Amino acid sequence: MATTTATPDEHAVVTDGVATEGVRRRDFIEIAAVSAAGIGGLVMVYPLISQMAPSADVLAESTTELDVGALEVGQSIKAIFRKQPVFVRRLTAPEIEQANATDVGELRDPQTLAERTLADHPDLLVVMGVCTHLGCVPLGAVEGENKGDYGGYFCPCHGSHYDTAARIRKGPAPLNLQVPDYSVNGTTLVIGEA
Ligand code: FES
Repeated sequence: MATTTATPDEHAVVTDGVATEGVRRRDFIEIAAVSAAGIGGLVMVYPLISQMAPSADVLAESTTELDVGALEVGQSIKAIFRKQPVFVRRLTAPEIEQANATDVGELRDPQTLAERTLADHPDLLVVMGVCTHLGCVPLGAVEGENKGDYGGYFCPCHGSHYDTAARIRKGPAPLNLQVPDYSVNGTTLVIGEA
């Protein structure tokens, strides 16, 4: 015959029965304790991880340096600046001519090539590789890629075409590819610092 006793932390214990309420309650207490420890662990780990990641301030102030001394006419560099792609191109004479021959008044986002380059380096075009429509990475920075109808960059996501000055010419993108702040110090291009 089964006998039943009660203890302060056990609701009921059946001494020769199979399942007991007391065991269930202890299990719950242990599970609750482990869960609490797990949460404590997460709370302790999160600050460590968040301290290891660069803060928004640090990220916003970071620069990318590239040696463009060996960048020949017609060559491009695809790099990363603040976690986003950036395209650097040494424009050819025909590309510069084509950009300058364009009627700026007809452009969706009117800008001359001179306004998008440094006076001392009019052949060095530095733009973010982020389509101004919905943020895809356009093609054209790598040799052999589709440069679109205007010989610059082409975004295949929805068909935006940029010209040799990376200005929007056709398709849904509203603006030219963004020119970040940058400077040239000798042969070093510093992106993120005017
Ligand atoms: S994201 Fe480039 S055309 Fe839509």
